[in-house]
Amino acid sequence: MTIKLTQTVQKGGCAAKISAEVLRKTLGSLNFSSNDPDVLIDGKDFDDAGIYQITPEIALVQTLDFFTPIVDTPFLFGQIAAVNALSDVYAMGGTPKTCLAILAFPLATLDPEIMTEVLAGAQSKIAEANASLLGGHSIDDDTLKFGLSVTGLVNPKSMWTNQTAKVGDQLILTKPLGTGTLTAGLKNSDYTEEQIQEALDSMITLNSILDLISPSLKDKIHAATDITGFGLAGHAMQVAKASQVGMNILFHKIPVFKLAFPSLRAENLTKAHRSNESYTKLALKLSEGIDSLDSKILFDPQTSGGLLLSVHPDAAEEIKTCLQSRFKSAEIIGSVTQLEAGSIEAPIQIHE
Ligand code: CO
Ligand code: CO
Repeated sequence: MTIKLTQTVQKGGCAAKISAEVLRKTLGSLNFSSNDPDVLIDGKDFDDAGIYQITPEIALVQTLDFFTPIVDTPFLFGQIAAVNALSDVYAMGGTPKTCLAILAFPLATLDPEIMTEVLAGAQSKIAEANASLLGGHSIDDDTLKFGLSVTGLVNPKSMWTNQTAKVGDQLILTKPLGTGTLTAGLKNSDYTEEQIQEALDSMITLNSILDLISPSLKDKIHAATDITGFGLAGHAMQVAKASQVGMNILFHKIPVFKLAFPSLRAENLTKAHRSNESYTKLALKLSEGIDSLDSKILFDPQTSGGLLLSVHPDAAEEIKTCLQSRFKSAEIIGSVTQLEAGSIEAPIQIHE
């Protein structure tokens, strides 16, 4: 009998993340700020990774991600977990170099062969990223959990943070949305892995884009983040807040997997859909013409989602075209706007 990994856990992937509101409440009183001037980026702007400067041209990019199974096939789960963890280095404009594995495995209930397959899946993607797996740590636990700690390098002069989106920039999203609802549908047995192949292919696509664009175009990218557990609305809001700007997003321009709206209408929803909606409530204004179940795509928790890039308007079309050679759904979904002082308008406006 083949065990379906998604049936061994209550929630899977980035949908299992502790909500931003709970994190704020429980960690808000703690002070993590450091006096070390070489710490360039820490946790306070909810950026994708921490940055630590080594020389004026070289900085470490450090991040960690792990989660429970989001798909049934062990090799595929390993691939998705690795691509998702590597993504935060790419989202800072960095290049991943070394990885350490984090593995919790239920030896009492799962065949150890599954562990081998998960790690083989991860290794295939680490190799594709030209990074190296140096080791890791494993424990015997009630449910399977897997992920990576990843260290990369970036030139701090050209890193992409959440703080540097500029008024007038165009916003590019590189991958379609919908992995949250589609994998919820998989877990509910509404879909098979084959039926959501489009989303699986997307989740195992590395967010590496530096090989697609010239160095001069790289400088036209002012800010970037990857869309993961907090959904497009949550991650866009974090960039808007850190950069002190607003955003206009065109709902019909947002790339979405073919089955994502049918899946949302069939109410394949997770707790994260609700917590992401509540997290972004005050920052978001939706045009009235947008169907309320369809609008849940904005709050859909992505696992191994795409990059949201804030780019100079002169270069947006050219960058989009370069990206489409690998990310065929990459699209310009909106623009960065001025935040009027004292305005009561929500900073992020979603138009039909
Ligand atoms: Co991220
Ligand atoms: Co992350």
